[in-house]
Amino acid sequence: MRGERERSSSNQNTTTASRRGSYANPQTTSSWLQQIRSVVTWFLQRPHSIPIVLAIFLFLAWISLRASHTPPLPSHSDQDIRANLVRFVPSHVAKDNRGWLFDPIALALDTAISGGAVSCASLHVGQIRPGKLRGNHRHHHCNETFLIWGAATKFRLENGDEDDGYAEVILGRDEIAVAASPVHRAHALVNIDSIRSIFFVGCQDNVINYNASTDFKVWKDL
Ligand SMILES: *[C@@H]1O[C@H](CO)[C@@H](O)[C@H](O)[C@H]1NC(C)=O
Ligand SMILES: *[C@@H]1O[C@H](CO)[C@@H](O)[C@H](O)[C@H]1NC(C)=O
Repeated sequence: MRGERERSSSNQNTTTASRRGSYANPQTTSSWLQQIRSVVTWFLQRPHSIPIVLAIFLFLAWISLRASHTPPLPSHSDQDIRANLVRFVPSHVAKDNRGWLFDPIALALDTAISGGAVSCASLHVGQIRPGKLRGNHRHHHCNETFLIWGAATKFRLENGDEDDGYAEVILGRDEIAVAASPVHRAHALVNIDSIRSIFFVGCQDNVINYNASTDFKVWKDL
C-alpha cells in the first residue's frame, strides 16, 4: 500500500518535471496550445458538440467535392484566338437541365473565330479514342468548322504568325469547343485523355476529293 503510494507519487514527480520542462521552452506557445486543447476538450464533452462537429465535417466534404467537380473555367485566352477556337463549359451553353444544345456554325459566326464553313456541304461525325488522333492534314478545297467535346484534347491549327508555324491549345475533358480551320490551313485533333473518347462534328463547305486536295501527315511530331 505504502509502496504503491510512493510509486504513484514518484510518477507524479516525473510527470510534473517533464511538464515543467515542456513549459520552459517556448512558454507562451505551449500554454496557448494547452488552453486550446482544454477548450476543445470542454467543447467535445458538451452534448451539442456532435451536430456542430458533424456540420463542420459536412461543410469540409462539400468544399472538397465542389473543388474536385468544378470544371475548368471558360478561357478566352490569346492562345485560343490564335488557334481560332472558342471553348465553353456545358453549364454555360445548357439552356435547361436536359443539357446543352446549340448550332456550332451560328456560334462560330457570332464569335471571334474566323474562316470556318458557313454552310455544310459535307458533314463528318466521329470519335477519337484515347491516345489516337485525327486530321494532321490540310484541305485545299474547303473551310472546315469543328465541334469538339468529350475528352481532354490537343487541338492544333496551322498559323503562319506563330514561331512553330502552328497554334495549339489543350481542352479540358469537360469543355466543349468550336474551332475553325480555314482552307489551306492544317489541323489536328489529338486525344490526350486516359479514358474518355473525343466526339466531334466536322462541317466542310465543299465536297472534297481527299486524294487531290488534301496534304496528309503535315506534322511529324504528332
Ligand atoms: C472559304 O472561306 C472563304 C472566306 O473565308 C471563301 O472565300 C471561300 O469561298 C470558302 N470556301 C472555299 C472552298 O474556299
Ligand atoms: C484516289 O486516287 C486513286 C488512284 O490514285 C483512285 O483509285 C481513287 O479512286 C481516288 N479516290 C477518290 C476519292 O477520288
